[in-house]
Amino acid sequence: MASISVFGLGYVGCVGIACLAKLGHKVVGCDVDESKVRRIAKGLPTIVERDVDEVMLEGFKAGLISATTSPMEAVSKTNISFLCVGTPNAPDGRLDTTYLMSAVKSIAEAIRSKSTFHIVVIRSTVPPGTNAAAIELIEKISGKREGVNFAVASNPEFLREGMAVADYLNPPLTVIGCESRRALDTLRNLYSTLGSEIVEVEPKVAEIIKFVNNSYHALKVTFGNEIGAICKKLDIDSHSVMNLFCKDTQLNISPYYFKPGFAYGGSCLPKDLRGLNFLAESNQVDVPVLSSIENSNNEHIKRVLNRVQEIGVRSVGIIGLTFKAGTDDLRNSAAIRLAEGVLGKGCSLSIYDRYLNIARETETNLRELNKRIPHLLPLLVKDVEDVVESTSLVIITVRNPEIPELVRKYPEIHFLDLVRMKDPSVETLPNYEGFCW
Ligand SMILES: NC(=O)c1ccc[n+]([C@@H]2O[C@H](COP(=O)([O-])OP(=O)(O)OC[C@H]3O[C@@H](n4cnc5c(N)ncnc54)[C@H](O)[C@@H]3O)[C@@H](O)[C@H]2O)c1
Repeated sequence: MASISVFGLGYVGCVGIACLAKLGHKVVGCDVDESKVRRIAKGLPTIVERDVDEVMLEGFKAGLISATTSPMEAVSKTNISFLCVGTPNAPDGRLDTTYLMSAVKSIAEAIRSKSTFHIVVIRSTVPPGTNAAAIELIEKISGKREGVNFAVASNPEFLREGMAVADYLNPPLTVIGCESRRALDTLRNLYSTLGSEIVEVEPKVAEIIKFVNNSYHALKVTFGNEIGAICKKLDIDSHSVMNLFCKDTQLNISPYYFKPGFAYGGSCLPKDLRGLNFLAESNQVDVPVLSSIENSNNEHIKRVLNRVQEIGVRSVGIIGLTFKAGTDDLRNSAAIRLAEGVLGKGCSLSIYDRYLNIARETETNLRELNKRIPHLLPLLVKDVEDVVESTSLVIITVRNPEIPELVRKYPEIHFLDLVRMKDPSVETLPNYEGFCW
């Protein structure tokens, strides 16, 4: 049984107190709002939420729940503090951590007079870097050392209002970002009874994941609604469409396509997206999400070109020109646009593509290539080694087994990887750069 103080008695804190008590822990609630503290001290929730009344009362009757407005008391009685303080948007959009940092400050003052190890757990949604800022503030105020006297863990809360108790006790996963092994082991032990997967990550990863999750959830809602609006105009049952969509767990509801890297292209994605946007437009349906996808893809190609400019080289090699590895299909290939962009920046260019090299061995294919990419065909080299000759930067757009060796062999050449070769020995080399990871 752990002894835990919970700072912030709103939705997350209130549900947290009830559920932690249900799991058998002794919990002390702490808030600057006296009325909330009074309620929790009587075993009453501060929010309206399914199941929370009973669970809270059960814990209160078992003598596991108390509350105070004194951070000193809350910290001295416990060895873990959960921070569930609000982080609303500031006028410019950023999440304002003023209240959270004020709670951290009060915890730091209490840690100053504590002789035992204290773990501060940030459950609020916070911008990346908050964990590090909290450590700095606690060290400064308490005079104690992170990892020795205290630790700060980032442990985002994934509950949904309306299902909060059930979600708290059965989270999709438990994410913990913390530099201290001791704290990680304590928290692992605390969460072991929940049965959900516990994932240890860097604190910044734990911090940004809530932004990513919730933005994706918002995208799902708007995507579904835009499909619904188009379907309705076309007299198609959108629920039937989306149910079908969700049945595809290989490409649709799956990790597929979720790897930050290079732009999409090919014969299907650009064509069919344009076709859907045409259907929307011709039926007077505004679809800002669907109609911005192509712009986002174009922006990504520009981002690569901007990086090429930043690196500041005059000679570039590209490995991979087709729209993906294993095919000679050049239709709507983003790599072609990249190659044209590189030429447009006034750089010299050489290109290696093992599948185009196979394709151009036949006369029909060669004629076709001459039609499609007459401006790029003369730049195609026969051997992967040729692409590094007299270039200062090589851009990788396809996974190719020969590339890791090239990166090792040519330390003076900068390799910009757009697809992540997943070779850890190469990723640490100074001449290797992952594009968006
Ligand atoms: N509400 C949700 O469904 C949900 C889900 C997951 C994560 N979160 C995140 O959890 C955090 C809390 O959200 P919430 O909805 O529970 O907020 P809330 O506004 O309901 O509660 C925040 C509480 O913090 C208290 N507080 C402010 N300053 C304090 C201080 N210095 N010391 C102690 N308490 C203080 C406030 O009085 C308030 O009771 C936010 O970062 C939010 O983004 C919320």
